[in-house]
Formats: sequence, C-alpha cells, structure tokens
Amino acid sequence: MDDKTTALVGIRKDGEIAVVTITNPPVNALSADLRQGLLEAAEACDEDDAIKAVVLVCAGRTFIAGADVREFGKPPQPPHLPGVVARIEAAKKPWVAAIHGTALGGGFEVAMGCRFRVASPDAKVGLPEVTLGIVPGASGTVRTSRLAGVSVAVDLVTSGRPWNASKALSVGLIDEIIAGDLAAGAVAFARSALKCPLPPAVSERPVEPMPEDFWQEAGKRAAKAGHQAPLEALALIRFGSQHPFPEAMAKERACFLALRQSEEAAALRHVFFAERGAGRPDALRAVKPRSVASVGVIGGGTMGAGIAAACREAGLPVVLIERDDVALDRGLANLASIFDGAVKRGKLDSKGKADRLAGIVGSTDYAALAGCDLIIEAVFEEIGVKRAVFADLVRHCRADAILATNTSYLDPRAIVAGLAHPERFIGLHFFSPAHVMKLLEIVPVPETASDVLAAAFALGRLLGKVPVEAGICEGFIGNRILKRYRAAAEALVVEGVGIAEIDAAMRDFGFRMGPFEAQDLGGLDIAYLQREGARSAGQVVPETLGDRLVKAGRKGQKTDGGWYDYPNGGRSPEPSLVVAELLSAHVAPSRLMPRDEIAANLLAAMASEGQAILVEGVAQSASDIDLVEIHGYGFPRWKGGPMFLHDRKG
Ligand code: 3HC
Ligand code: NAI
Repeated sequence: MDDKTTALVGIRKDGEIAVVTITNPPVNALSADLRQGLLEAAEACDEDDAIKAVVLVCAGRTFIAGADVREFGKPPQPPHLPGVVARIEAAKKPWVAAIHGTALGGGFEVAMGCRFRVASPDAKVGLPEVTLGIVPGASGTVRTSRLAGVSVAVDLVTSGRPWNASKALSVGLIDEIIAGDLAAGAVAFARSALKCPLPPAVSERPVEPMPEDFWQEAGKRAAKAGHQAPLEALALIRFGSQHPFPEAMAKERACFLALRQSEEAAALRHVFFAERGAGRPDALRAVKPRSVASVGVIGGGTMGAGIAAACREAGLPVVLIERDDVALDRGLANLASIFDGAVKRGKLDSKGKADRLAGIVGSTDYAALAGCDLIIEAVFEEIGVKRAVFADLVRHCRADAILATNTSYLDPRAIVAGLAHPERFIGLHFFSPAHVMKLLEIVPVPETASDVLAAAFALGRLLGKVPVEAGICEGFIGNRILKRYRAAAEALVVEGVGIAEIDAAMRDFGFRMGPFEAQDLGGLDIAYLQREGARSAGQVVPETLGDRLVKAGRKGQKTDGGWYDYPNGGRSPEPSLVVAELLSAHVAPSRLMPRDEIAANLLAAMASEGQAILVEGVAQSASDIDLVEIHGYGFPRWKGGPMFLHDRKG
C-alpha cells in the first residue's frame, strides 16, 4: 500500500508500522464520514501484508472527543460506531491508540477497540455521555469493565468525569505514558509490543463479578445526580458484567438509542451548545481583548475574597485593597480560609496554597493599584460608598485600566457618572461563593469600549466561568428573574398553598432547595433592605410576606428562623407555627395543589420574566437566560433552563 490520504483519515507508513491520522477539526468528533474513513483505513491496513501494526493518532488539539453531538438530534447514519470499534478490534494487525488532549465518549470507545492505548502525560480519558443525558453507545459500559474492572467503569461512566493519564495508567485504562513526540513514541511502543504475545482483545477479557452491596452503594451515588442517565448507565454496567459481550452490547445500544431521543438529552445538548456559544459572542469575534495580566480587588468581604481567590486560581497576581488594617487582616484571612478549604477537600496541596498566597499583595493604599490592568470593586452595596471608591480608582489607576463593579442591584451608570474615561467601566457580577459559582454576568455601560467588553469575556473564560452579557435593569438577568420567582412563590402562599409543599415541589423538579429554604439560607433581610431602599426613594413597593417576617425578626437561619423554624440551632427546616400565626391574616385557607402544578406555575413566572428580558434586550438570547439560571441559581441542568422548557412545552 502506498501512503494514502482521504479527507479525514490519512495513512502513512513508518517501516512496518502504519500511522493512521485523523484530521477532523475542531475536536476530531466521529461524524459519519469519519466513521467511514476509519473502516476504510482498517481494510487498507489489513490488506497490506507489509504492515505489522497500526498507530492511530489525531491531528490538532485532541484525540477523538467523542461522537458528533450535532448528529444526536437526527436519525443515526451508518456506519454505526459499535461496528467501527468492532472492526478495529478484529483487525489482523494490532492497533495502538495514541492519545493526546481528551479521548472522550466514542473517542475512548475507539481506543478500547485498539489492542493498546498510550497517552501523553497531560492527556485525559473519559466517558462523559451521562452529562449529555445518554449512556455510552459503542461499548463504554461493556468494554470498560473488561479492560479495567467494574469499579473503574462505574466511576468513569456514572460520574462522566474524565481521568488524567497517570490515574488511567494505574488501573490499566492505558498501557503507557509517552513524554515527547507521541506518534514516534507510539510507533516505538508498537514495535516492542510486536515482540511479545498479544494480550486478548478487550471484548474477550473476563469481568470480575461484584457483590450486591457494591451495586447498592453505586446506585445511591448515581441517584444523587438527580437525573436518569447515570442510573441507566449503572444498570448497563451491571448487566454487562453478568452477561456475555454480545448480549451486553445489544442492551447498551438499545438504551443509547432510546435515551438519545429523550427530553433530558435534548435539554443537556441545548446547554452543551449554549455554554460553548456564551463565551464567544459573534459581535466580538474580530475584537482583540484589552490585556488583563494583573487584577486589583477592592473589598475583602464575602465577594471580594472569592473573586480574588478565583483570580489566583487562574494564575493572576492580585492586589487586595481594604479600608483599614483591621478590615485588611480580615480580608486576607477570608482568602486564606478559602485556600484552607481547598486543601481540606484535597483540591490543593500546601505548596499550591503557598503559591496562591504569594501572589497576593494586601494594602489600604490605592497607590498599590497603579500597575493593575483590571480592578474589581466589591465594597458595600451603597451608591455613596461605591462612587467614592470609583473616584479614588480614577485618581490612582492607569487611564487604560479596566474598572469594574460587582454591584448586584445598583445602576453601574450611576456609580461611574461624571468620571473620566467612561469607556473602561463595566459591571462584572460574580455570584456567591465567587470562587465556586460558574456564572459571570457582564454588564457594559453605554460607553464601554469593545476591547473592554472582550476582555471581560476573556477573563470569564480564563477563570473557568460561564460569561453572559446582561443589559442594565434592576437585578440584571438573574436577580430580576429571582425576584419574580419569589413573588410567584409568595403568591401561592397567599392562595393557601403550603410553604413546605412549594419547596418540596421545586425539589421534586430538580432544584437542590425550594425558594423559601433558599431564602432562609441566604437571609431574608437582603431583599427586604433592597425593597426598603426603593420605598425610601419614593417607589411604590407593596409589603410582601417576607417583609412581615423580617419585621418580626425572622431573617432566616442566621436568626434561628425565617420561613421555617430551625430547632436547637440545627439546619433542618421545620414548618413554623409562629409564621403561620404571623401570616394568617394575609393568606387564604389552606388548599392542596399538585406539586407538578406548583412547579409549572413558578416556571411559567420565570419564563415570562425571561421573555420580557429578551424583548427589552437585557439578554442577548434565550439560551443566555437558561445559562444564568443553571449556573447562578441552581436550575437543574437536565431540564435545560426555563426558556428551553417553555419552548418545548409551548
Ligand atoms: N461533537 C460536536 N462538536 C463538538 C463536540 C462533539 N462531541 N465536542 C466539542 N465540539 C465543538 C464545540 O461545540 C465547539 O464548537 P464551536 O467552536 O463551533 O463553538 C468546538 O468543538 C470546540 O469545543 P470547546 O469550546 O468545548 O473546546 P475545548 O478545547 O474547550 O474542549 C473538549 C474540548 C474537552 C473536547 C470539549 O469540547 C468536550 O468536552 N466535548 C464534548 C465531549 C463529549 O461529550 N463526548 C462524548 C460525546 S457522546 C458519545 O461519544 C457517544 C458515544 O458513546 C457513542
Ligand atoms: P461584605 O460586606 O462581605 O464585604 C464588603 C467589604 O468591602 C468589607 O470587607 C468592607 O470592609 C469593604 N469595604 C467597604 N468600603 C470600602 C472601601 N471604601 N474601600 C475598601 N474596602 C471597603 O459584602 P459582600 O457580600 O462581599 O458584597 C460586596 C458587593 O458584592 C456588593 O456590591 C454586593 O451587592 C455584591 N454582591 C454580593 C453577593 C453576595 O451574595 N454577597 C453576590 C453578588 C454580588
């Protein structure tokens, strides 16, 4: 065979080893054409007697990242992936998968069809199908147990989280880590493998059976995800470990094809593509972001410390400014305790903590900000305090430094009105805890320069956030919908529906907490003070049930009670007789409402506010609103967001 190249699959020879190279940018997804190309490559290599082994590599940033998700909404096209994997496994010559970047889903299934797997040190392997609402469809639930044991299969498949190369090597998911030139290393690996007897194909290896209590425990863990796919995947792994390979494959395929059509899968695909679109708005594609290599944070409280920690996590040096030495010590302690938490959870070692802390300069002097490219203000939510801080920033920072406010409700235009160089002002609304929550609302003022807006998106991506642009209105996108959601929940209470029933309905829907439990946790006083502020500014804001509770001293868990009682200082909410008494004159006699009706009611309120937000241009797209709800407010990802749901249900 001469060297051969089709559009997606090239074959070249290195002596007796064929190197099959896939080139299907951006991530070498397994489109129908690529599947066909792989079948043809397997035929060509088998037919050439001079070839003794085959190395499979990918061009570009990654090994095959999986099936082509864009095909999932359409009928399956032949050749189907299980057949392609089986063809590679049945090849006359052993195949070696050479993995760099990520071998995910169908990509790792192809690798498991190969007789050997080698990887670069920074490669990852995984089966993330459950995160798309499906199960592996080309042997992931069947071959993984046969390759590395049932317990590894359960972790990889039901969590959907990839493993790094060294962890994968330790359990036999891969055979060798190759530093340096991967293709050359894989060819050398293939040559030495040919000198030994070949191991059996993965499908022919035995599986160690697991005891009943293993499956019980695994079932409990999989159920925690809250949606169907992890449980289905677990059942398939169990079946696959107890039945012959062909039967297990048939069952997996049937389940994969059924779930592919499910609402859950459609929702998760919607979120997958929305997330990828969010960080890169079309309007900014040609804009070079203003450079951000160092950050100043004003205020080391709840938000400032979290923002500073997120910046350090991304490697940015941080200057933390507080109003006096006592507050600065407290702010630095807040930061240290975030890193301590990461150490405790095993996410950071002591050297990592020391590195993070070494990149922070604390000061009470704004002059320390002179070299910073971006300054994020996170001081008290009071217009006077924020205006004074911005006036100081303008005096001390470079004229091209980006100046951002983390305000939740204030109008960013009012914070910076009259200050020089308005093109560098922007709102960067992080969510609490800022080093954990993925949402970043980006709020430009009318004068914000496009390279400043682009820098905000670039920062969001660098920090691993989901950046969403929001227009200026009270509460931007997220808090505005939250307000409507809470009002709708209170309206049901007024109609006589039980507080605990409403919370339970939203938990059944998929939220971790219902609207009232969540308020008790965060504190009812925050929204109360905001309403009071509006009232004292002359706005007509009717008294809410929440206002009545705050006035009676019930601000939530911090005061031993809010919508619920928390007996003995505990954290479990108990329905409260005091609340029933306080609200009795304002609510109708108790009535039963089915939980799905309660949920539908509150979801309709969210979607309707979302619709208004879209019409006003506060959000750029319905999918941005879905991302805000999912990443900032605990909306269950597998339901796709309020706008997606509304669109599907009509
Ligand atoms: N199918 C189609 N397009 C994909 C894709 C896939 N599996 N994975 C990524 N893309 C696209 C993205 O939409 C994006 O397109 P855009 O540039 O037009 O927006 C582009 O590739 C780059 O993606 P990212 O921005 O996510 O690039 P990163 O470098 O940050 O990440 C990645 C790369 C880790 C591979 C990440 O894209 C990813 O996790 N992809 C999904 C992997 C996955 O879920 N695979 C399993 C699929 S299901 C399956 O295989 C079923 C099988 O069992 C039969
Ligand atoms: P906080 O009260 O915990 O912290 C504010 C910090 O700012 C304090 O440490 C204070 O000493 C410092 N500070 C006050 N004036 C200062 C000045 N002139 N110079 C330097 N430091 C000063 O408040 P929190 O919760 O961190 O909120 C900060 C901002 O973030 C507010 O605008 C708030 O609306 C917003 N926000 C809060 C969220 C939350 O859940 N807490 C969520 C999103 C935004």
